[in-house]
Amino acid sequence: MAFKLLFALLLAGSHLVASQNSTVPSSTIAAASQTSSGSISFVTSVELSVDDLWDLYVGPVSTFSINTTVEPTPIPSSSLIPPPTLYYPPLPTGQQVPLQSRNESWKFPKDFWYGVAGAAYQIEGAVKAEGRGPSVWDVLTHRVTNYVRTNDTGDIADNNYYQYKEDIARIAAIGIKTYSFSLSWSRILPFGSGPVNEQALRHYDDLIDTCLQYGVTPMVTLYHWDTPLFLQNLYGGWLSPRIIPDFTEYARVVFTRWHSKVHYWFTVNEPIVFCNFYPLPTNYFKNTSIPKKQQPYFCGHHVLLSHAAAYHLGKGINSSLSISFKTNGGYKIPLTDSESDAEAVQRAWDFQEGWFAHPTFLTGDYPPRLKEYVETFLTPFTEEQKGQIVNTSDIFAHDAYTSDFIMAPDTGIDACLSNTTHDLYPACYNTTKVYSNGYWAIGPASDPGSPWLNKATDWVPAFLRYMQDTWKPRDGIAIAEFGISEPYESLRSSLASILLDPVRSSYYRDYLSAILIALSEGVNVVGTLAWSIYDNLEWSQGYSVKFGIQYVNLTTQERYFKASAFEYVNMFNIYQEK
Ligand code: BGC
Repeated sequence: MAFKLLFALLLAGSHLVASQNSTVPSSTIAAASQTSSGSISFVTSVELSVDDLWDLYVGPVSTFSINTTVEPTPIPSSSLIPPPTLYYPPLPTGQQVPLQSRNESWKFPKDFWYGVAGAAYQIEGAVKAEGRGPSVWDVLTHRVTNYVRTNDTGDIADNNYYQYKEDIARIAAIGIKTYSFSLSWSRILPFGSGPVNEQALRHYDDLIDTCLQYGVTPMVTLYHWDTPLFLQNLYGGWLSPRIIPDFTEYARVVFTRWHSKVHYWFTVNEPIVFCNFYPLPTNYFKNTSIPKKQQPYFCGHHVLLSHAAAYHLGKGINSSLSISFKTNGGYKIPLTDSESDAEAVQRAWDFQEGWFAHPTFLTGDYPPRLKEYVETFLTPFTEEQKGQIVNTSDIFAHDAYTSDFIMAPDTGIDACLSNTTHDLYPACYNTTKVYSNGYWAIGPASDPGSPWLNKATDWVPAFLRYMQDTWKPRDGIAIAEFGISEPYESLRSSLASILLDPVRSSYYRDYLSAILIALSEGVNVVGTLAWSIYDNLEWSQGYSVKFGIQYVNLTTQERYFKASAFEYVNMFNIYQEK
């Protein structure tokens, strides 16, 4: 099926390179408008196909030799033998290690779910297959110089689009019961709105059916950062309220199609991250006149309204669905016991988790410190909108990888608040990974490519308690992503050295122990999703930073379990009630 849409094509002020074959009419200049930099941008209305979009904005893409859906290859039984134990040899010889036994006061309830997660652009590959339209990430990886440190793209990634049956068979074989993946919006609606691509729907039909066939619960995220390029160029993506009806319509298509097969749904992944990505590099997408510091909050505003609309629509289609927002952030520890650091911590909660959790769980509106800032430029939510937004997350689905020490800016909070050009304005708090003695890190570092992340699992019980007490989620808390990049993993050359990943293994063991402590103290944690099902495109770090509990040989597309996969599953084998 050929999709065509009328599209306003920017002819000036852009880095577009038209390919030989695309049709760019030289006439019909429909409008001339002023860009934010003051230059005149000429705009025309032309009919563009999906292929034209690719040719104009992305250019040629790579493909892999396996390019039709394949049946799973048998999983060698040797790859299901657990690794040598890391902590407690069963028969200590030489160095004496005290035997550790099961802690009898810990347990995961029977209905606690545990699984692995991935996201469309990071794993699928097959970017032009079967009618998929480009997303902003195709442009960022292909066209924007140095956006991805290693110049990698998602063109092939883990070839999951064709090898998903094997991927599901593998996780089932090791005992993982849940698989969380995101849909590619621009596969389903190549232009983000308008015509629906039935081939893409059929692909996801089979992905979901394969999960069910293997007894793996599918969990679906609608949006994991891959905004359809067409919408980004048409109106600036999340910066425009026009995204609300488009996202809602997309939600209608997918809820209608899969509500009887998929129970758990996440609307948007980590808006703190993708809203703070704005401004996307200038000259590649539609320009905006919204000031840079304000852009994240316009984006967040439209995310909240889109999420709320999708939530109500989904519940209208099937009231038994579990639909949640997916937020991210770490535990916030005051660096010192000063009053200003305590205030900085509160600002950090309000500008991170609170930005989306306060409206969706508590009031329908922003938390006080954030509201004070955004009400200077955003149209406040009406009472009706607040009513739409509040109580629209069934689970507190939080991607909680790490913790941070928080402190007031060097200049003090008040000086920051009265200086709109301050680096830390408007949030006006600072963070560090080093204790106040200036010597020890908060926990072992991850790969240098993810400097935001240390293993800081000691604070997990306090964090979970804080979430429950503060936002009181109706159906409990899920750690919807957690994981760590094994330091320097990409420098290891032998397969055997890659597969033993002690930092990641201890991360999962200690993190899950921390959840067990929280559970034993009455915190309602309902599930966990390890990030990630396997190594994948780590956004601007390309394939150089590895988060997988499986290694993928990107030349052959073979998969291998790492030791951490066994550690993860083993904690449930030991502690889950049968
Ligand atoms: C994102 C993933 C990302 C992971 C590791 C999460 O915040 O949802 O897409 O790969 O962090 O950086």
